[in-house]
Amino acid sequence: MKKYYITTSIAYPNANPHIGYAYELVQADFLARYYRMSGHDVRFVTGVDAHGLKIQQTAAKRNMSPADFVNEQKDIYQKLADTIGVKYDRFISTEDEDHIAQSQCIWTKCMEKSDIYKKRYSAWYDIKEEEFLGLAEEGEDINSREKAAARFGVNAEFIEFIDEENYFFALSRFKDQIFEILSKDEYKIVPQNRKLELLNFVRDNGLNDISISRDRSKLSWGISVPGDESQVMYVWFDALINYITAAKFDGEDCWPADLHCVGKDIARFHALIWTGMLLSAKIELPKELLVHGFINHDGRKMSKSWGNVVDPMPLLEKYGSAAIRWFLLKEIPSTDDGDYSDDRLNAVYTADLANDYGNLVSRVWNMAQKYFDGKVPDLDLALLGNVEQMLVEEKWLAYHAFIEKRDINSALNEGHDLVVMCNRWIEENKPWVLAKDPDKELELAELIYELLETIRHITLMFYPVMPNICERVFRDVYNVSDLGVKAIEEGGYDAEFTDWGGLMPGSDLGKQSLILFPRLEVQKND
Ligand code: MSP
Repeated sequence: MKKYYITTSIAYPNANPHIGYAYELVQADFLARYYRMSGHDVRFVTGVDAHGLKIQQTAAKRNMSPADFVNEQKDIYQKLADTIGVKYDRFISTEDEDHIAQSQCIWTKCMEKSDIYKKRYSAWYDIKEEEFLGLAEEGEDINSREKAAARFGVNAEFIEFIDEENYFFALSRFKDQIFEILSKDEYKIVPQNRKLELLNFVRDNGLNDISISRDRSKLSWGISVPGDESQVMYVWFDALINYITAAKFDGEDCWPADLHCVGKDIARFHALIWTGMLLSAKIELPKELLVHGFINHDGRKMSKSWGNVVDPMPLLEKYGSAAIRWFLLKEIPSTDDGDYSDDRLNAVYTADLANDYGNLVSRVWNMAQKYFDGKVPDLDLALLGNVEQMLVEEKWLAYHAFIEKRDINSALNEGHDLVVMCNRWIEENKPWVLAKDPDKELELAELIYELLETIRHITLMFYPVMPNICERVFRDVYNVSDLGVKAIEEGGYDAEFTDWGGLMPGSDLGKQSLILFPRLEVQKND
């Protein structure tokens, strides 16, 4: 089996997770599940970024040690991943022992290549973003916090001036190589506009060497620099290395990553700094960086100070994971900014899930119970017209092509189009009228077979977005045993499952009527 190693970024757990981070989890989980269903041996890693000044300060405010604070927060992040249905193979914390050793090992490799050196450094530092902001240009006066905040466009509350001896990474040495690697898609940046943005940045600004450590007296919460206890690694230096640490499973090394999923604010770290570090340490590069946009709330950026941060947990409690995953993946553009609003979530739940898909499944199951005694109509498949078959085949091609392009919204729309079409076939062909006419028995059998078979295909397409609901449909409607469901989960996009006519005529359907997405007061459904 071909391996596929996929990661999310690792979040700073200093505050609780919001819907924007949940989006990243769900997008990556969708792709992980998609590749699993395409027969890949998937390794999916997510987790938390434990170190840095921000964590140290937040822990101090709570009168906790950073280690205790991070452990407590890690559980909250892991609970979100579990509740939203993320199937990860490892939930890493950069406090994990193997990660500390791995970070020191890569540091040593870069040091041996003389790409790490020490120098005195003065710069403004953004604690919130854990990012060095730089210094005044010649003739410019930014010697106060307010002036620096205005100059760098950041919040004065979260910056500090650093003046100390640090280790530097010689990123500038790799400028041309990085430019070429990104331009040639040797490490592919998706979408294209992000790739161009990064290339323009490198071309216009060049790449400066970066500070990669702090004086322990200023920042103690981090990984020690090998051979120099007085210095602690810059949080980003160790955080990026988590992808290599986590690639090792029972002695097997899954590096290089096939896909890193991150947000637009950290694309530079992943495309430029990470690439430089790997080139220095002579480690293979990841294959692809998928950059998503930001989720706003009612058209505004989510921010603690505005009090408009959306907590995904109560939404999961109210709507269930399938609805939240569906909303995020179908409504938020895969590589652009999108908007969350309570009204929109409610409307999408009712329209797409309760009225369209949920209603279609229960309607067709009910008709099969009523007209065919709970069985798939027993007919000769050769008699079926091929319009529906061609349509489903076309939709599969488009579905896969969109996912290949990382356009998950459009892929899901292909499946959703089929749902809408099935509901239309029912309205147009009126099975309840056909059922009254004995001469129309074959016509009715064909219609119900085509509906059941098309819903089976739709359900396979929706599996990576709503695995729990689709599992129920396979079990309760199609009467597939647990073993069969497992086979679908791990090889569902094999011809065996996705060829038209996979549904056996005359076979028994499940006996249990099911309401997948209850209407009225929206209830939890999984
Ligand atoms: N710790 C670093 C990542 C290190 S990876 C080696 C970090 N953490 S973070 O908590 O600030 O962000 C985690 C992820 O959430 C990032 O990919 C970021 O882009 C994403 N998002 C933060 N706010 C978001 C939205 N409003 N919408 C969508 N994603 C958002 O950066």
